[in-house]
Amino acid sequence: MTQTSASATAEAGSDAAAATQDEISAEIAAIAAEAAGAGETATRLDYPPYRSSLLRHPTKDLHHVDPEGVELWSPVFGEQDVDPLEADLTIQREGDPIGERMTLTGRVLDGEGRPVRHQLVEIWQANSAGRYLHQRDQHPAPVDPAFTGVGRCLTDDDGWYRFVTIKPGPYPWKNHRNAWRPAHIHFSLFGREFTQRLVTQMYFPGDPLFALDPIYQAITDQAARDRLVATYDHDVTTHEWATGYRWDVVLTGSHRTPREGDVE
Ligand SMILES: [Fe+2]
Repeated sequence: MTQTSASATAEAGSDAAAATQDEISAEIAAIAAEAAGAGETATRLDYPPYRSSLLRHPTKDLHHVDPEGVELWSPVFGEQDVDPLEADLTIQREGDPIGERMTLTGRVLDGEGRPVRHQLVEIWQANSAGRYLHQRDQHPAPVDPAFTGVGRCLTDDDGWYRFVTIKPGPYPWKNHRNAWRPAHIHFSLFGREFTQRLVTQMYFPGDPLFALDPIYQAITDQAARDRLVATYDHDVTTHEWATGYRWDVVLTGSHRTPREGDVE
């Protein structure tokens, strides 16, 4: 970042929520036109419409080193470490959580399409009202005492993960005035080695907030953005119980699932 943009950022940071959605959308459109002209596909870590990325993005190139042996082994989780019940976010507390019950399943694959077996998949999310069970989330939407919003499971022999949860709601954030995040579920995955760790967000098809969201739009390549959107799958939907969504994750290779740089 240049000195000039750094001071501009500090200025913007003093009243970060002052920009309107129209102003943010115009910034998004200008960058999208520039990125399309340049054939850009990488996620922009320094993305001005996403205000806090200006100060939080890495300012130096990655320092490439050969990984040491220990970094080439993934963490090992025994069956006793991860209880199968942890994959059902609707049964963690007394009572049923409010909202749309949904099954979310998919495969974790490497760049060659091979299943990534017995690896940890962790998720965290807001409740159906868009509220996190977290001290920092104090916006006026109800906490659901029956819903923690966190779960984890191991992939099976064919790389499948499966969660039962509640569809999260969109929530406001302080990037600009009237800023709302599209509904999403945060994912953390461990691959075969530590260097394959992936932290990202999964979205829902057809969300009207996509075009307005600076975090989603920081990925300038539409094909890459599409890889973060789950598919409604009626074969996963269960009779009188839950709707079903499918989302596959690719850890490596040119079609890998986009990961977070410094996005929230
Ligand atoms: Fe979130």
